[in-house]
Amino acid sequence: MKDHWDHIYETRDTDKVIWKQKIPTTSLDFIHSFGLTRNAKIIDVGGGDSNLVDFLLEVGFQTITVLDISAIAIEKAKNVNWKICDITDFKPSTTFDVWHDRATMTHLRIIDFIYQSKK
Ligand SMILES: C[S@@+](CC[C@H](N)C(=O)[O-])C[C@H]1O[C@@H](n2cnc3c(N)ncnc32)[C@H](O)[C@@H]1O
Repeated sequence: MKDHWDHIYETRDTDKVIWKQKIPTTSLDFIHSFGLTRNAKIIDVGGGDSNLVDFLLEVGFQTITVLDISAIAIEKAKNVNWKICDITDFKPSTTFDVWHDRATMTHLRIIDFIYQSKK
């Protein structure tokens, strides 16, 4: 799984992959719908190099965690807590007010299915 995503981030222009959104409007609307204070703890699971974190920082959220299995995906350091980890192994040491995932859990199942089928 990790190799799969590292390979994608090493070999593809991730501004051009189908899941990339210039402005992640649906996710932003979803997160803003909770009326959170700016010190709410938000985790973006499988955030990769999504622009979501930039928009959240821009409006003043201060405690954002981005978790991703691929270190290559999140090499571009930003002012957030980075967790390089497989979500299925993640044992949080804190609580989060919002858990956000877009296009990660779906891939978790699809890619696992493809790899199992090849065995
Ligand atoms: C399709 S991309 C979506 C990226 C981002 N959420 C977005 O909407 O642009 C899926 C992301 O999930 C990460 N990922 C896949 N499986 C994971 C796992 N088991 N644990 C953590 N991250 C994972 C990948 O490295 C990749 O960055």
